[in-house]
Order: sequence, then C-alpha cells, then structure tokens
Amino acid sequence: MLKVLFAPLQGYTTSVYRKAHAEIFGGVEAYYAPFLRIENGCPREKDLRDLDISGSQHSDSKTQDCDSVVQACDSEARDCAKTVPQIIANSINEFRTLTEALLQKGFTEIDFNMGCPFPMQVNRHRGAGLLSDVQAVQEIMDEIKKISSDANGTAPVKFSVKMRLGQETPDEAFALSPILNDAPLTHITLHPRLGKQQYKGALDFGSFERFYSECKHPLVYNGDITSVSQICEMERRYPKLAGIMIGRGLLARPSLAAEYKQTHLDSTATSQDLLGKILQMHSAIFENACQTYQGDSQILSHVQSFWEYLEPNIPKKIFKKIKKAGKLSEYREAVAELT
Ligand SMILES: Cc1cc2nc3c(=O)[nH]c(=O)nc-3n(C[C@H](O)[C@H](O)[C@H](O)COP(=O)(O)O)c2cc1C
Repeated sequence: MLKVLFAPLQGYTTSVYRKAHAEIFGGVEAYYAPFLRIENGCPREKDLRDLDISGSQHSDSKTQDCDSVVQACDSEARDCAKTVPQIIANSINEFRTLTEALLQKGFTEIDFNMGCPFPMQVNRHRGAGLLSDVQAVQEIMDEIKKISSDANGTAPVKFSVKMRLGQETPDEAFALSPILNDAPLTHITLHPRLGKQQYKGALDFGSFERFYSECKHPLVYNGDITSVSQICEMERRYPKLAGIMIGRGLLARPSLAAEYKQTHLDSTATSQDLLGKILQMHSAIFENACQTYQGDSQILSHVQSFWEYLEPNIPKKIFKKIKKAGKLSEYREAVAELT
C-alpha cells in the first residue's frame, strides 16, 4: 500500500484544516505545510504562526515542536496531523535563515520547495525558478549534507525535496539528478509539469518515468490524483514508488486517502458518511474562524474557500447559496440545508 501525503496548499491547508482533517477523515501519513518564506529579510511571521498547531488565536500557547504538535492532536482521533514544514528559498542565505527558524521550533523534518510556479516566487528565483540554477541547488544540497552530518548528538534533521520537471524544460530536472542523488534526502516528490504550465495542461509521464528510473531516493508522485482507482493504478504501474502526494483531490474529496486505505479492507465510505464528515470538519473550521476574525465579511472570506473544491459533493443550488452568502446568517442557513 502506498503512503498518502497531503500536499501543501497555500490558503487552504492551514493548521486548523490539517488538524480537523486528521481527526475526521485521516488516512494521511503526513501533512506538508504551505511554504515558509522570507519577507523583509526575516521568516514570515504569519507562516511561522500557522506552524504552531494552536495558532495565534489561542496565543496563550507556547511554541510547540513537531512531537508536541502530534501529541496536541485529540487522542481519540483516528490519525494525527503529523505536520512537515516546507521552506522556499532562492539562495543558501535564505535557506539557512528559514532552516534555523524551523530548527528553533524543534522541527526535525523539513521539505524544500523547488516547484512553486507562482510568478511572484519564480521571478524572485524561488520554487520552480530555482530549478535552472545548478550552482544554487548544489550549494543548498551541500548545506543539507553539512546540517545532516552536524547533528552533534541532537536528533538529526531530515530533508526532502518537492519539485517539478523544470520551469521551461524537463532538462532542468535531469541536470539536477546527480546533485540530488548525492544529497542525503529522505525522498523527492515530483510533480511532472513545468513551472510555465502552472497547475494545468498535460502531465509529462515520459519524463516522470525517466526521473523515476534515475532517482536514487524514494520517489513520491504528485499531480491530478482524484480517485482511489488512480492511486491503485499508480501503485500497479510504478512498484518502486514510495508514496502519492495529493492536493486538490483531497480538498475535493477529503475521504480519498481513508477510502484508499479501506479498499485494502474491501469497504468504501458512502456519500452520506462523506457529507456528514465534511460538515463535521466544516464546524471545526467555522468555529475557529469565528474566534479568530471579526465581522461577517472577514469570517466569510475564510470559510467560503473551504467549499471551493467540494462542489461535486453537494447540490449545485446549495453550493451557489454558500458561495454567494454576504451575511453570516445567510451562510449558516445555506450550510444548514445540507443537513
Ligand atoms: C492554491 C494552491 C496553493 C499551493 N501552495 C503550495 C505550497 O505552499 N507549497 C507547495 O509545495 N505546493 C503548493 N501547491 C502545489 C500543490 O502542493 C500540488 O503540488 C499541486 O496542487 C498539484 O497536486 P494536485 O494535482 O494533487 O493538487 C499549491 C497549489 C495550489 C493550487
């Protein structure tokens, strides 16, 4: 059975979302947090706060490390929201600053982003914008080697990489293969598109297969997985695959990972179960938004995005009502129609 990892999705998979998902749906091995980046020379505070499972809204909490994040999950929960933080950097300096901030928080696993296609990041030489810079990647991989061997009796830090084939051409990933193979990475997650395609257009399975055969690290596949049968097909086609990372497919069907696990037990969730659990998860997110934000429009802007990818699971009329609600009372009424 393949491990299923929840992909980082900036603006969607917040700490509240991750914890609610783990408690209500589960089936996910680890949740990759949206990237931490440098803003005005420092690690962005908003990103750092989100890595604290309790978040800023419960500001009496102290900074928690990764293990206590896991412990902080409801002990009754079927799964725990094991969170792996991610960083995005354009140079060895940014890399060091961000890594240091996470080590101070006690994290022992860090994912490095070399795939973000957002022009704001690519133009700053980050994410997919870094893939063509062999020298910068070499320096960062050397730093990973150094940090991994400098553990000095403390828990060693594990690094993984999440990447695309390139910004302009798949040659970029193949040029990096030897450098990546030589670095002490736990795994690589590959999204087989180019940065210039963003999140649409054909997936390049030819290049994925070449990378799969050249890569010496465990390889995780990421891209357009929306059903249990697709996961099973990947498992059959690529026996060496270490896992599947899913983003939008899990936002749209939060039960997907648990359903995949259950296929091995020969049972599936009914659509009634699914809607009930979606509503349960929504309650956690809604409650948190009401405690954190003020005024109908601020609260609504945070909770309405929860439904965006869930459209196929709910009646069209109610979906429209939820998205169009301008007042909390209208929103509550629309959501209540789902029960
Ligand atoms: C709105 C949005 C935000 C994203 N934020 C991140 C991010 O912070 N870090 C990252 O590595 N990938 C990010 N991604 C990419 C996803 O993690 C994933 O690689 C991509 O959606 C493809 O997988 P999927 O088809 O399963 O969704 C983002 C994608 C979207 C659509």
